[in-house]
Amino acid sequence: MSGWHHRHIIDLATFSRENYAAVLELAHRFRSLPMTGARKLPALQGRLVATLFFEPSTRTRSSFELAAKRLSADVQSFSPSSSALSKGESVLDTARTYVAMGADVLVVRHRSTGVPQQLSEDLEQAGERTVILNGGDGLHSHPSQGLLDLYTLARYFDPAHPLPESLQGKRIVIVGDILHSRVARSNLWALTACGAEVVLCGPPSLLPDAFAAFVDAPPPGQATDPVPNRGRIVIERSLERALPGADAVMTLRLQKERMGQQLLTDLERYYRDFGLNHQRLRLCERSVPVLHPGPVNRGIEMAGELLDDKSICLVEDQVRNGVPIRMALLYLMASAETPDMTPAAMA
Ligand code: NCD
Repeated sequence: MSGWHHRHIIDLATFSRENYAAVLELAHRFRSLPMTGARKLPALQGRLVATLFFEPSTRTRSSFELAAKRLSADVQSFSPSSSALSKGESVLDTARTYVAMGADVLVVRHRSTGVPQQLSEDLEQAGERTVILNGGDGLHSHPSQGLLDLYTLARYFDPAHPLPESLQGKRIVIVGDILHSRVARSNLWALTACGAEVVLCGPPSLLPDAFAAFVDAPPPGQATDPVPNRGRIVIERSLERALPGADAVMTLRLQKERMGQQLLTDLERYYRDFGLNHQRLRLCERSVPVLHPGPVNRGIEMAGELLDDKSICLVEDQVRNGVPIRMALLYLMASAETPDMTPAAMA
């Protein structure tokens, strides 16, 4: 796959426009293949994908496991509560155990920022060929979610050609707990890379002003930004100013488990100021789609009726699109390891 140089996938700050296009194109091909019953693709036959989720997950973990199975990989899943973690084994030693069993890919989720990165460095030092795919670390990054959100939006704007260019010039509003959200951070990299303007909206306690410059400097350890012209980020403190002109609205869960102090004391007030419902959405100049990475707190981030309104709420679409996006990531990682693996292997 031309231009694909990622071994481990830790965050999207290192992704070029070509990388986004490669993932979306491949995901779109996978999505259109009938894959019910025994019809799997042989691409990852003989490979072992282990899902190491040290933090709870419904969607991401099942979606990675289904994606790996659809590519014929063997799948091993790990559950912290029934594992030797409770006997004091470290995260690193847990990961090494799966490497010793021959895992080709470790999909890792952890509540602490930096764990997938540390594991990838450890594996490199040890000369292991196993690659790490970040399934969400602390408040840092959730690359597969950023990519599936991008794909969901691209499909909405241009169903026949859901590519990065379909986001060019679009105004995407992200509302809520930006501060604690790894999903917001991954979306910021992905959406601005594709030329969208991102409007962030939330109270100052959950959305510091510094987010306006989030993509202006490459993160530590990265000399340059692989994307030459990013869309800009705008901060609006009220939905009344954020929503007019929006092309899509994404709302995020209040990450109570990551709120060290009482950053939000009044949930009713939060819903009144930042909750989405049909009436609120009339502030947009047209009918716009609504996204949420899940899990949703009904009546806090959005009204239950809005979540259930399939005509504009894309939450189930996001879940559905997660599988082909993760298939694309696993496929691209495996083909980077085995350069002679061509898309013909998908037939
Ligand atoms: C998100 C996560 O875990 O970061 N969920 C997900 O992966 N779909 C968002 C959240 O937990 O709020």
